[in-house]
Amino acid sequence: MTTHAPSRIFLSPPWTGEPERAALRRAFASGYVAPCGPMVDEFDRRLGALAGQHAAAVASGTAALDLLMAELGVGPGDRVVASSLTFVATVGPAVHRGATPVFVDSDPATGLISLPLLRRALRAARPKCVIAADLYGQCCDYDALEALCAEHDVPLIIDAAEAVGATSNGRPAGHAGVAAVYSFNGNKIITTSGGGAVLSRDPEIVERARWRAQQAREPVPWYEHREIGYNYRMSNLLGALGCAQLDRLPTIIRRKKRIFAFYEKAFAARPRLGAVPFPCAAPEEATRWLSVFIFPTPAVRDAVAARLAAANVESRPVWKPLHLQPAFRKCRTYGGAVAEDLFNRGLCLPSGAGLTRKDLARIEACL
Ligand SMILES: Cc1ncc(COP(=O)(O)O)c(C=O)c1O
Repeated sequence: MTTHAPSRIFLSPPWTGEPERAALRRAFASGYVAPCGPMVDEFDRRLGALAGQHAAAVASGTAALDLLMAELGVGPGDRVVASSLTFVATVGPAVHRGATPVFVDSDPATGLISLPLLRRALRAARPKCVIAADLYGQCCDYDALEALCAEHDVPLIIDAAEAVGATSNGRPAGHAGVAAVYSFNGNKIITTSGGGAVLSRDPEIVERARWRAQQAREPVPWYEHREIGYNYRMSNLLGALGCAQLDRLPTIIRRKKRIFAFYEKAFAARPRLGAVPFPCAAPEEATRWLSVFIFPTPAVRDAVAARLAAANVESRPVWKPLHLQPAFRKCRTYGGAVAEDLFNRGLCLPSGAGLTRKDLARIEACL
């Protein structure tokens, strides 16, 4: 008798179906297979409506951050102050431009950038900008961050890659500071397979990002360049995919919240595991893009992860703080212990909007 291993349950796979296929077919039929085109324009318009500001869809969230670093003129010798508990792409584009990151620990109540430590970092040295990262579907406190950065006259960039669809005191994800970015990478709450966006309340910042993303070409019949740009355009096909995914966003958020509630209930029924949700100050404003739980010790966390892995179920530790990354070992860090602790004891659990009851039962059996 042959036994088949159960199919893999991934952490956060894309959730797509016939509406996405139909949108792609329509985009093909329109003849706009090349970069740009009407579906990217439509995606920009709809992203702008979602975020309450102007938007330009581009090739990735990392590209969007790179365009903002170009806009701010970040370069060699500059310092950028950033969250430590985040994905490396939050600071990658600044580092490629020769800037030095300065890291700030997490607030224990949210896991997001600590405002008292950010204040200390801003007092010590005036950076070129602050890049604050939203985490796992939870936005930073934009009102407080804006006030603090304004006090120190430092531009604020929001890395809202993980927070599309969430809010901060009622403000849509990324609605703060000079500008923000979204990501539509394959694991994000909505996906264009790969993609991102620049968002800003200032239409000129978004227009310049769009211009730089298209090789900074001057509006004349021949190829004329005052500045050297990038090829960070999003293709029309992916714009169509993005529009179809945006239609689903409210349903995805509802499903993500239900998945989070499932884990809460499952862990409440297993007090021996001692799991508590990743800190979150305003749960009603979060999307629960990923369901993340903190265990009493690294050993308990690792045991749960090992049981899931044995059943072919993917899970991941919380982001390894950037100040612990070998590449950044010489960088200045304010605090660090909170992010380190969340990394040591935190686990991201399967959170795909397409998870079935059967999948959830399989996961629960591992706990
Ligand atoms: C916080 C954060 N910033 C930036 C990115 C980069 O986005 P992308 O993968 O679209 O380049 C990601 C995810 O990939 C992220 O989680």
